[in-house]
Amino acid sequence: MNRFEGRIALVTGAASGIGLATCARLASEGAHVLLADRDAQKLPAALAALSGEGHESHVLDVTEEAGWLALARVIGERHGRLDVLVNNAGYGSFAPIADTSLETWRAVMAVNMESIFLSTKILMPLLAASGSGAIVNVSSIRGIIAGVNTGSYSASKGAVRMFTKVTALECAAAGNGVRANSIHPGHTATPLTAEAYADPVIARQLLADVPMGRPGEAEEIADGIAFLASDDARYMTGSELVVDGGKSAQ
Ligand SMILES: NC(=O)c1ccc[n+]([C@@H]2O[C@H](COP(=O)([O-])OP(=O)(O)OC[C@H]3O[C@@H](n4cnc5c(N)ncnc54)[C@H](O)[C@@H]3O)[C@@H](O)[C@H]2O)c1
Repeated sequence: MNRFEGRIALVTGAASGIGLATCARLASEGAHVLLADRDAQKLPAALAALSGEGHESHVLDVTEEAGWLALARVIGERHGRLDVLVNNAGYGSFAPIADTSLETWRAVMAVNMESIFLSTKILMPLLAASGSGAIVNVSSIRGIIAGVNTGSYSASKGAVRMFTKVTALECAAAGNGVRANSIHPGHTATPLTAEAYADPVIARQLLADVPMGRPGEAEEIADGIAFLASDDARYMTGSELVVDGGKSAQ
């Protein structure tokens, strides 16, 4: 399949895990990929891992408005439009509410949620210039079902889910051709979770309520992201795609 031939795609959190797998998938289907991550050290290897020539890497902290404004200028000058935006950068902090500091709460919100407000607002003119722009926001199964000790993470990912729907409605009302959908991965084996899965006791606990009995692979989430970003999902906007091995079906 070459669903992204000639398309410009920006992925945040692109240097690792689900973001990197998404870049690889989009590149393998013909996209010109812009990899954005705050980790400047990991970006060169991520860039080198992609098929095809000419992809770009950009050091970006997604919580910084100035960084987004600068990146938007570069994309505008080089490409004049943006066809695909995958807001993937994120992380979790897991503790009871009573033990969560305001600093931690704000940090999680800034990376997981505020960043998506910033990118959506700042990049919308470039997405509209595409004529068929697609936004895929990476939420989590925790944006739909709660769990103990996930206060800041679940709240941030639930906010991503609703913000995606508002984005979809505003774009449809504006008639700018931009679709927005969220994806909700369950437990996924990535560098973020490697430590947990390396401990057999924790791994057993994490997977106890996953009907398929294993964590997802980053590539399996990337498949869902690519679907939502592609014309195969052209009548989908404001939707949520759950990819969780059946966890939320119970
Ligand atoms: N792994 C899972 O089990 C799982 C489950 C559900 C949802 N998710 C979500 O998927 C997304 C990717 O997770 P992953 O497991 O691939 O994680 P990961 O740690 O492997 O990769 C995350 C990447 O985001 C980058 N990043 C973090 N903060 C950033 C910032 N402020 N600015 C720019 N880049 C930043 C990191 O440098 C890293 O390269 C996250 O939003 C996460 O919440 C993951």
